[in-house]
Amino acid sequence: MWSRIFSRVQPLKSRPVIVLNFKTYREATGEGALSLARIAERVRQDQGVNIMVSVQHTDIYRVASSVNIPVLAQHIDARDPGSWTGHVTAEAVKSSGAVGSLVNHSERRLTLADIGACIAKLKSLGLLSILCTDTPETSAAGAALTPDMLAVEPPELIGTGIPVSKAKPEVVTETVKLVRRINSDLILLCGAGISTADDVARAIELGTEGVLLASAYVKAKDPYALLTSMAKAANDALRR
Ligand code: G3P
Repeated sequence: MWSRIFSRVQPLKSRPVIVLNFKTYREATGEGALSLARIAERVRQDQGVNIMVSVQHTDIYRVASSVNIPVLAQHIDARDPGSWTGHVTAEAVKSSGAVGSLVNHSERRLTLADIGACIAKLKSLGLLSILCTDTPETSAAGAALTPDMLAVEPPELIGTGIPVSKAKPEVVTETVKLVRRINSDLILLCGAGISTADDVARAIELGTEGVLLASAYVKAKDPYALLTSMAKAANDALRR
């Protein structure tokens, strides 16, 4: 699956991963989403880092048909196609050009049963699953459901600009330790408050393969310069 999903970027394991969550920010909606995705595509080409964008459902087709980097949904409902009003199926996001989805983001929490069903559904369609968790313990539980990637994010730091990799490094290191005991293949990220190149470098030094971030990029005065600095720091940290 990796070759199909990441054929357009570097082999996943050898390069760090930066996932940009556009959430429902005004700056990252519609043409704004496309503009920020194009900048991310340029940085990926320049720096050779795996960069993915997670956009609102209404922007998946617009973005996925315009840029050559992986586009993710922010959520899916683990339902089969049929009589489900207002739900968004994995089949629907795939047909729009998404290569996967976030699952259980703290702003879109699911039950454990729904998490398992979403991951299984995404897998059945050859789609990437990025499970979002909040503690080392929920990360360990989630790892057993075999998502492709897992991003641990303490909700209280989200949107604060206070990076988890510096404010709560123990959450990251404990998550790495517990998850690695259960699933050695899973790509591990951390997020919440990641705002600078140094925050990204620190996240990788703590044992992750990358980061999940939102507001620092979406609200940056110069998103290209910020993301370039983060990509360079990620590459340097992964080589060390
Ligand atoms: O999905 C990542 C997001 O929850 C982190 O938000 O704004 O702290 O980067 P932010």
